[in-house]
Amino acid sequence: MTPVIICCGAGGVGKTTTAAALAVAQAQAGARVVVLTIDPARRLADALGVRVGSEPSPVALPPGVEGTLHALMLDPKETFDRVVARFAPTPEARDRIYRNHVYQHVSANMAGAQEYMAMERLYELSRDGRWDCVVLDTPPTRHALDFLAAPDRMANLMDEGVMRWLVLPASRGGWRMIERGSEVLAGVLERMVGNSTIADIAEFFSAFQALWDGFRERSMEVRSLLAAPTTRFFLVTTAAPAARAEARLFVEQLRAHQQPLAGFLLNRCLLPLPAPGAPTFTAPTERPPGWDAAVAALAALHAAYQGRLQLQEQNIDELIRGTAAPVWRVPDLGEAVQDLEGITALAEYLRPAVT
Ligand SMILES: Nc1ncnc2c1ncn2[C@@H]1O[C@H](COP(=O)(O)OP(=O)(O)OP(=O)(O)O)[C@@H](O)[C@H]1O
Ligand SMILES: [Mg+2]
Repeated sequence: MTPVIICCGAGGVGKTTTAAALAVAQAQAGARVVVLTIDPARRLADALGVRVGSEPSPVALPPGVEGTLHALMLDPKETFDRVVARFAPTPEARDRIYRNHVYQHVSANMAGAQEYMAMERLYELSRDGRWDCVVLDTPPTRHALDFLAAPDRMANLMDEGVMRWLVLPASRGGWRMIERGSEVLAGVLERMVGNSTIADIAEFFSAFQALWDGFRERSMEVRSLLAAPTTRFFLVTTAAPAARAEARLFVEQLRAHQQPLAGFLLNRCLLPLPAPGAPTFTAPTERPPGWDAAVAALAALHAAYQGRLQLQEQNIDELIRGTAAPVWRVPDLGEAVQDLEGITALAEYLRPAVT
């Protein structure tokens, strides 16, 4: 199977940034890499040359890089359409689903659709044959690791609760209940399918029935891709104590899913200062006014930095306690990382993570 790298973590910790940097590091190591980004910031998207709905587009890397890098941006709706096209028994069945209002709503808004489609697109890329490595950025999920459960949830959706009940013929009570106007049900439906009519809903489920087996089968394949030894999960987090609880939750959830953790990517870290050696400057024999004060201020700055560094390292120790996963420290560049130069600068710190 094609090796896969997945960058997961809480919202805003730097998943998209580090996924791009890991992809660059892989290309520098000579691989043909594709990175699937999720909602990258506009300027980063421009720098990578990705647009919604685009196929993988080549990213121009500095001369001398042996491998290649392509990038694309997840388009959940377009991916959903492709899944439907693949599993629909006939072009007419496919078009019936495309035209259906419930489908149009569900494919664009359903909770979890983005996670599921990220998995689906990852699977497609891993089967494509053109790549030595696929790097996946993940969506900012409300619940940690939602995306891991997405394939199962999508398959179950069709079997479970309201859904199963909805396809019951009216004579068995299903539609009659709706017609009676249960408020709870109306609420559930509103959330699920927006302002669709009952006829739309009925048609959606009857048209979708033909696709269920395909969905279920695909979800098994995605699950085995995620469980493959060639699939590696990196947890992106910061060293701040506030990030720790959320990061630990990820670690536990990965464990519950029996997914080994390939490493912690500690983003926005302070890096150790060079070891003190011989002074690199000589104090002038005649000290200008303010010299001593300036030297004292510098020494205080240095001590404060060392203090913060020590605190950071304690936080990192707390975070990784009980896990055997290695840690990579990625520095804070001080400004948003929105061009290839910044991404390449971060890739330097991720090199050993790619081998
Ligand atoms: N090491 C870094 N140094 C400086 N800025 C960084 C660094 N890492 C990330 N950033 C900046 O932090 C912001 C958030 O990063 P990013 O978009 O990668 O996070 P994310 O985890 O993908 O967020 P979301 O959960 O919303 O998808 C961006 O503006 C990015 O440029
Ligand atoms: Mg992101």
